Amino acid sequence: MKTENPTTKTFTLKDRLCAKAKPGQFLMLWIPRVDEIPLSIMNAEDKQVSVTVKAVGEATKTLHKLKSGEIVGLRGPFGNSFTENHGRILMVGGGTGTAPLLFLAKKLSAKAKRLALVMGAKTKSELLFLTQLDALCTEQNTIAATEDGSYGLKCLATEPIEKLLNKEKFDMVYACGPEPMIRQVFDLAEKRGIAMEASLERLMRCGIGLCGSCVIGKYRVCKDGPVFNAAQLSEVKDELGISKLGFDGNRIPL
Ligand SMILES: Cc1cc2nc3c(=O)[nH]c(=O)nc-3n(C[C@H](O)[C@H](O)[C@H](O)COP(=O)(O)OP(=O)(O)OC[C@H]3O[C@@H](n4cnc5c(N)ncnc54)[C@H](O)[C@@H]3O)c2cc1C
Ligand code: FES
Repeated sequence: MKTENPTTKTFTLKDRLCAKAKPGQFLMLWIPRVDEIPLSIMNAEDKQVSVTVKAVGEATKTLHKLKSGEIVGLRGPFGNSFTENHGRILMVGGGTGTAPLLFLAKKLSAKAKRLALVMGAKTKSELLFLTQLDALCTEQNTIAATEDGSYGLKCLATEPIEKLLNKEKFDMVYACGPEPMIRQVFDLAEKRGIAMEASLERLMRCGIGLCGSCVIGKYRVCKDGPVFNAAQLSEVKDELGISKLGFDGNRIPL
């Protein structure tokens, strides 16, 4: 167990199946007597799997209080993974969304022609894995943007992204983080005809395509995603970054 910032911890668990996961896949973590929740895989190797979790509600706060050696349940790995493009890559991450990007960056860094990263957060302590990701980037030129200006540029991440896309040619944009940010990055990439893959989150119950709680357009995020390409993102434009289904089936704004 490792504390990343005041609200976020990384947990490493033994599980032979999840240890074979690819970047972009997720697992369902059962916290006994509380709930089962979906989490992106941050790393998988040596019969172990790691997840980085922000304490937001009952399940995640209970998980944060568990001690090393206590038992939790795991199902997975589920969903598809990012395709591995070895061209000029731009990664865009926000919040715990940077966890799967760190896993992906580890796979791409040795082969990619260029690996650049823009990270966005409200404040400095929410910029997760900045040092590790920067070390994996070519030329180590990660751009960080915070809304309160406590680190890097004082603006939304979309500002430096737009400047970078106007200046340089990229073959692929990978994005993971808050959906309104993903939507803005999608609009910028679509305008320029750049390939893109984004990992989306929806409310999940079963994680295996049965219950329908995770739908976006004609897709089930748990089974058809969580990683969607630009063509698929374009098909769900009416919902992307705008709204999602709540547990009671009503649409809620994002
Ligand atoms: C594919 C996927 C990957 C995710 N990866 C991560 C990750 O790497 N790190 C991380 O901290 N969080 C991740 N999440 C979000 C995480 O699942 C929720 O924060 C968690 O379920 C909240 O549970 P809670 O009981 O603590 O909070 P609650 O009080 O129950 O909920 C707080 C908020 O979390 C969301 N949420 C609650 N239950 C679910 C659910 N079953 N499925 C999806 N969202 C839910 C809702 O937006 C809700 O408003 C991911 C979600 C998905 C769908
Ligand atoms: S979570 Fe049940 S269908 Fe996706």
